[in-house]
Amino acid sequence: MNKKFYIETYGCQMNVADSELVANILRNKEFSLTDDHKQADLVLINTCAVRDKAEQRIIGRLGYFKSIKRKNPNLKVGVLGCMAQRMKHQLADNQDVVDFVMGPDTYKRLPEILERVNEGSREVDVVLSKKETYDDLKPFRYNQNKISGFVSISRGCDNMCTFCIVPFTRGRERSRNPESILSEVVDLRNDGYKELTLLGQNVDKYNWNKGEIKFGKLLEMVAKEVPDMRVRFATSYPQDMTDEVLYAIRDYDNVCKYIHLPVQSGSTRMLGIMRRGYTREWYLNRIEAINRIIPNCAISTDIIAGFCGETEEDHLQTLDLMRIVKYDYAYMFKYSVRPNTYAAKRLPDDVPEDDKSRRLSEIIELQNKLSEESNKRDLNKVFDVLVEGTSKRDKNQLYGRNSQNKVVVFNGDKSLIGSLVDVKVEAHTQATLLGKLITKN
Ligand code: SAH
Ligand code: F3S
Repeated sequence: MNKKFYIETYGCQMNVADSELVANILRNKEFSLTDDHKQADLVLINTCAVRDKAEQRIIGRLGYFKSIKRKNPNLKVGVLGCMAQRMKHQLADNQDVVDFVMGPDTYKRLPEILERVNEGSREVDVVLSKKETYDDLKPFRYNQNKISGFVSISRGCDNMCTFCIVPFTRGRERSRNPESILSEVVDLRNDGYKELTLLGQNVDKYNWNKGEIKFGKLLEMVAKEVPDMRVRFATSYPQDMTDEVLYAIRDYDNVCKYIHLPVQSGSTRMLGIMRRGYTREWYLNRIEAINRIIPNCAISTDIIAGFCGETEEDHLQTLDLMRIVKYDYAYMFKYSVRPNTYAAKRLPDDVPEDDKSRRLSEIIELQNKLSEESNKRDLNKVFDVLVEGTSKRDKNQLYGRNSQNKVVVFNGDKSLIGSLVDVKVEAHTQATLLGKLITKN
């Protein structure tokens, strides 16, 4: 038997975690994983729908696999994830390439779907679940870096930001059983992993047993369970991030001092149109709380340029807020209309393309400056760095990340990969800290 599958993953960390669940389901069915699609009997594409650009890339990839399939007609191609959920039959109608389409809550049914596909049927399974958390499924962590692993703690999102497709593709918010989270965390430690990242669209809404365990408590439970591992988490949500969470980050040395706190816009008026549920002042108050409670905490964000109705004044408020917060890092996007969202249906996409592009460039330019300044502030500091591998540019150099999630590059021996070392920062580029190894912990 021994059929081979190949899997390609686009989009967020949650998709990476989902692909690892899918990989395990297939391995249990005696498939083996290959990283060469030319060897594969089954190709899976785990897709992202968050912006049009992401979808266009995937459409391009499907075109490529169409040509592969012409040479190998027995090859089966499945489209998984958010774009599968959003486009459903529209994707399956690409008969010369797509054999089946499965949404993010359906992966346990993959073996049945494959059976029917092998009998010649074309399958679309996009039922969203209010319950599915894949509690009892273990991931097959096929990414080569055996140092850092993802653990999902919740699925879906109930926030309904007006621009966002995620609530439509990933369904209702639901929290995973804390016992199964802890058991996966312990598995990671037993497998020699040194770091884990707890994943949810909005980790601050984690809620087990009607408020008995909220995110602050869960973070504490995880930190205590594996005191020798680093603990990260993503993504925090400004309206829901409580001081309790901040205290848990402060009180446990192994919880990394880094918070990704998407703002989207610095204008209260725009935040209202986006239905983010907080104001500029509320957001700045949360930033103030982070700086007060965890003084060495790094902060990053997501920003959207040119959302519906955005004026020059709103844009200037975003730039102004960025300067106040002094973000260490940011992910910056041009607004992209997502079919069926509130914004697509009700709000005119009225910022001219030129203005969108210019505003995005201004945001990126400012952030580049802020990132550089943030790196400059780290000169001469000594950081604990978890070594992840050898630098691509120079094999004698190692790279890793500090607690603040910044990449640090330094000279060192390969035997240090996977350990925590002290590195003193001696120089920097805009994106990277350059340091010198001081001691071996
Ligand atoms: N809470 C989620 C957010 C997922 S979307 C998480 O962090 O996992 C990630 C980011 O994509 C959002 O924060 C937003 O900045 C951006 N985004 C979402 N919808 C978008 C759209 N329609 N156009 C442009 N950017 C968008
Ligand atoms: Fe999207 Fe807003 Fe949820 S950005 S993922 S609807 S918090």
